[in-house]
Parts: sequence; C-alpha cells; structure tokens
Amino acid sequence: MADMTGKVITCKAGVAYEPNKPLSFEDIHCAPPHPTEVRVKITNACICQSDLYFWKGKDTQKLFPRIMGHEGAGICESIGAQIKHIKPGDKCIPVWQCECTKCPKCKSNKTNICDTFMFNWGSGLMPSDKATTRFTRIEDGKPIYHFFGISVFSQYSTMDEACIAKINAKADLTKVCLLGCGIPTGVGSAWNICKVHSGSTVAVFGLGTIGLAVVEACKVSGCSKIIGVARDDGKLERGMDFGLTHTLNTKSYDKPIEEVIRTMTNGGVDYSFDCTGDPGVISSALECCVEWGGVSCILGLVESSQRVSFHPAALLWGRTWTSGLFGGYKGRSQLPELVDQCIAGRINLDHYITHKLPFSKIQEAFDLLNTGGCIRCVMDYES
Ligand SMILES: NC(=O)c1ccc[n+]([C@@H]2O[C@H](COP(=O)([O-])OP(=O)(O)OC[C@H]3O[C@@H](n4cnc5c(N)ncnc54)[C@H](O)[C@@H]3O)[C@@H](O)[C@H]2O)c1
Ligand SMILES: [Zn+2]
Ligand SMILES: [Zn+2]
Repeated sequence: MADMTGKVITCKAGVAYEPNKPLSFEDIHCAPPHPTEVRVKITNACICQSDLYFWKGKDTQKLFPRIMGHEGAGICESIGAQIKHIKPGDKCIPVWQCECTKCPKCKSNKTNICDTFMFNWGSGLMPSDKATTRFTRIEDGKPIYHFFGISVFSQYSTMDEACIAKINAKADLTKVCLLGCGIPTGVGSAWNICKVHSGSTVAVFGLGTIGLAVVEACKVSGCSKIIGVARDDGKLERGMDFGLTHTLNTKSYDKPIEEVIRTMTNGGVDYSFDCTGDPGVISSALECCVEWGGVSCILGLVESSQRVSFHPAALLWGRTWTSGLFGGYKGRSQLPELVDQCIAGRINLDHYITHKLPFSKIQEAFDLLNTGGCIRCVMDYES
C-alpha cells in the first residue's frame, strides 16, 4: 500500500448499527493519528464474549454505530508527532487495558486501571479531545464510535498512545492476536490476582477461553487438583487437554455443586474462578472454596440488570472474594512479557484456535462464538 501517513485511509470494517443485528461489513474512513495517537494496520483478530455482550446491548450505554473488537494484533502504520514508544513497522497489540504511564493509577503498583481506560470504557470517543472519533461513514461523514479505545474490527484503527503495546518482533501475529483479552485475563487471574501456587486445589467454573486459560495457568503453576465445572461433557473433555484433573458436569448432580466440591476436597478448594458471568455460578464459586483462607475470583461480566445474592457470613471465617480486569496485567509494560512467555512455549496458544476465517466473514465468526461452536476463531484481515 502507498504511504498514507497523514491521510485518511478507506478500509473495510465490521460496523454494529443496532443491538443484536448482523454487522455491516463496509468501507469506512479511518483518520490519521493526532499528536498523541497511533494508527495500526490490524492483521488478525478474534471475537471475545465481551464483544457479544456490548453487541447485544447488555451494557448501560448502548452506543451505536460502533466498531467493536478488542482482541487483535497488527503493525504500526503511522504515529502522531509526540509518539516515542513505537514506530511505523513495529509489531503491536492494541490494549483496551491501556496504560498511559502518567496518571496516578498507572504510577501505582496496586492497580492496572488507567484514567484513559476509564474514559474509553463508556465513551466511544478519542481520549485526546474527548469529543471526536477517527472513524466516519463514507456516505454521510457521520462519526462511528470506538470500542474500548481500540476497535480492532477495522483493517485500520487509530488509537490513543496509551492503548498500544509494542511487542517482540519475533511474535507470530496470527497467534498473539489471542493476547488482546481472553488469555491474559485467565492466565493473569491465576498468576497475578490469586497467585496460585504448586499444590493448590482449584475449581474453575465455565470452560470457554477464559476458563481454559485459568486451567492452563494453574497447570503450569503446579496446582495439584484442578476441577472443571461445566454443563456439557464436550467442554469438560476439552478441558482435560488444558490441564483439568477432575471434571464435574452440573447436570449430573441433584445437589448444589459447591457441596459436591467441598466433599471431594475435604472442605473446599484453595481457589475458585467464575468464568461465566452467571450470578448463581458466582455464588457457587464463592461457597466451594474453603472457609478459612479460600479465595474466589470473579472474572465473568454480569448483565447490568442482574445482582449476585450472598450472605456476608460466607466471608466471616476468612474467605476472600476478588476480581479484576485483564488478569491484573498493565497493558503496555507487562503484556509484552506474556507475549515473550508464549513465544517460549510456556502457554500454548495453538490449542485455543479452533477456527480460522477471512475478516470478510466476521458475522460467521460472531455466530460461531454466540452459539458456543468455538473457543477462538482467528480472522485474517488480508485474505
Ligand atoms: N474480567 C475481565 O477482564 C474479562 C475479560 C474478558 C471477558 N470477561 C468475561 O469473562 C466471561 C467468560 O468469557 P469467555 O470468553 O470464556 O466466555 P465463553 O462464553 O466462551 O465461556 C463461558 C462458559 O461458561 C459456561 N457457562 C455459562 N453458564 C454456566 C453455568 N451456569 N454453569 C456452568 N457453565 C456455564 C458456558 O457454557 C461457556 O462454556 C464472560 O462473561 C466475559 O464477558 C471478563
Ligand atoms: Zn494511566
Ligand atoms: Zn474480551
């Protein structure tokens, strides 16, 4: 492609116009970066459950039209005048869990939340001016909202400098595109948030990508018992390949699954993980961990109208309830280390990729995830 630095690029994008309605795969305009922004040529991306959550309008903002997508990888195409940490041609992962490195949260080692991320979460606008978008419709020039600041369901996407992690030049973009959301969330919840260790007992509820990544991280850490909880045998069987030592199909028991787990672990597991976003499962996950010192981590996103009911006595003897975004990883400074660990083979990215499709079939990829037919479908933006 000719040098488009400083110019508007016309490219394909999957645009969501209304909740639950098929995406429109159409040409859009992507504006060049402002001084503190970067434009990325996306090469590969996948769909995560959180894209479906916002596409279905389960959030409170319901911003449309919008270009979603927050799990992808690509190559830096052009940079704004003030950008120093990345240059055109560098491989990168757009990170919704961004890191401006300047705000008080970024300077704290207690959180991976950044002020830029807090703005990006609900606004759909660019953080640099808090008013405009870099995507517009071709036919009428109307703005199209961004998603989590990165909108990777577009062949080119302009984003704030906080949202772009430069990664190892050896990284295979067709694989590390998986590291934009689901796998770091699962792996980091085990390693960074809960800090599971050798010999720990663990229960993982829900075996989608995030649950499987928790399972794999627990296996790598040497956990002694890794119990998978799901509603179908196929998912449990697949979980064995990722490291499950025990499987429980909730449909096979007529008593609460937390009781079954407490019985099989002499009082409860050391760590439990909700990877479903189901309020009932979140309660079960809390109650299946051991009362004295057990830790339960909520990873799932719960629909905004729903609540989890619990009695504080569940925590009285010393259980801890915890949660976090993106597995506690700071996007720019810590995600590149996970990329390196994957290149070294510590986490096997291949077994999460069950499907591959060209970007033009994005709706098929949405449907595959929506119907439970896949773990991750990697889309190729050039075919
Ligand atoms: N905390 C974060 O930073 C973060 C990041 C990304 C996604 N998420 C959320 O994490 C959750 C999991 O994501 P995913 O991509 O793995 O989703 P997924 O849909 O692929 O997997 C969820 C699994 O849970 C199972 N499940 C649902 N209800 C269940 C129940 N009652 N009992 C047993 N199993 C049940 C489903 O069958 C499915 O296999 C989603 O809610 C997603 O929005 C959180
Ligand atoms: Zn910050
Ligand atoms: Zn996600």
